[in-house]
Amino acid sequence: MKILVVGGGGREHAIIMKLAESARSPELYCAPGNGGISRYAKCFDVKATDIPGMIALAKKLQPDLVFVAPDDPLVLGMVDAMQAEGFRTFGPKADAAILEGSKIFSKELMQKYGIPTGSYAVFSDSAEAIAYIRKQNTYPTVIKADGLALGKGVILAQNEEEAIEAVKSMIDGRKFGESSARIVVEEYLTGPEVSVLSFTDGKTVVPMISSMDHKRALDGDKGLNTGGMGTVAPNPYYTDEIAKTCMEQIFQPTVEAMQKEGRPFTGCLYFGLMLTPDGPKVIEYNCRFGDPETQVVLPLLDTDLVDIIEAVYEGRLAELPIHWKQESAACVVMASGGYPVKYESGKVISGLDEKGQTQGVFVYHAGTKFTDNQFLTAGGRVLGVTATAPTLPEALEQAYAAVKTIDWEQVHYRHDIGQRALAVKQG
Ligand code: AMP
Ligand code: GLY
Repeated sequence: MKILVVGGGGREHAIIMKLAESARSPELYCAPGNGGISRYAKCFDVKATDIPGMIALAKKLQPDLVFVAPDDPLVLGMVDAMQAEGFRTFGPKADAAILEGSKIFSKELMQKYGIPTGSYAVFSDSAEAIAYIRKQNTYPTVIKADGLALGKGVILAQNEEEAIEAVKSMIDGRKFGESSARIVVEEYLTGPEVSVLSFTDGKTVVPMISSMDHKRALDGDKGLNTGGMGTVAPNPYYTDEIAKTCMEQIFQPTVEAMQKEGRPFTGCLYFGLMLTPDGPKVIEYNCRFGDPETQVVLPLLDTDLVDIIEAVYEGRLAELPIHWKQESAACVVMASGGYPVKYESGKVISGLDEKGQTQGVFVYHAGTKFTDNQFLTAGGRVLGVTATAPTLPEALEQAYAAVKTIDWEQVHYRHDIGQRALAVKQG
């Protein structure tokens, strides 16, 4: 069996390592991949968003399965294009990936089907948006670009001035191009955040183990929003009771709503949830595995991922029991100094063996290059150092012990990944 994974970050590395465990012993390909992935899968230099290029690669490799991991090719319709060429492909088609591709679409869907989310209004005119914000006069308020914006399209405005600045830069300044031609102004929600990834074949939805991301760049949740600086799983705030509520009020209704709309969602549907005092509410949907959530969720999966992918593809997920290890996982992201703003690449990474690994953990590579037998930094997020252990404190201890053995010039990581999760456990 041959499998082609589209993408080239820590998430894709985690997907590839789980596929490598399959009883089917697949031959693994990745495009574009990265230095770390290249030690485990044959990588091809095709951009994840290059649909014609990826189709040409698939025609050459003739994979039995294609796994499209990142948001942009999904939103652009890579699954549609691959399936049209006869390739069995995991991931939602464009008409379903819109759940992430348009925040306005997802808000309207939730409103139509009574799925709990923050109240909101949609604008394409900055003066109207500003008038609305002034009338609401409650801060913080949340301003979101409608379309994809590299995870930077959400502004939590602390006051009127910041809100106006955000509106103007998005609508008038087209800060994110056409993605910010229309915006959502949304109620600010409070409570712990939980990420729940799920497998769905369009009818059945099977939630994976919950996780907790750490989005801010600096310790104590200070600094700018990033793609994610570390994760733990499971998320201790997400109790069995809350899981049941989410299944009844959010997960199943979302999948049914997409089916009723004639846009069945198949693949991995990611629910970004806020556990508010009024119950769980949806902050966002993503049409794909989370990064770095995948790095802590998939290591705990105890069922063959290839079997799950086939069950999703063939619409028989309801028949497949999916099992999880009763353990904890922690991932500490090591980033380039300056990330998420400005950073340098090409730094030599010390402390990794020829597979890009170090003892006691698994190092998922997010942004590395492998040349002349060395690993070099090649991105903002560079490595996701991940440990699994019977308990969260042990997983964190092992992950941080390994982090201390890896180094490069201007390395940056958070020292407090998992601390909030530990506080819940003890409290
Ligand atoms: P996103 O880029 O959609 O993942 O959003 C980035 C982050 O902004 C989320 O992880 C939340 O922490 C925060 N956020 C988004 N929407 C809201 C909201 N309505 N209220 C409070 N925080 C929010
Ligand atoms: N870690 C958040 C995301 O993947 O969107």
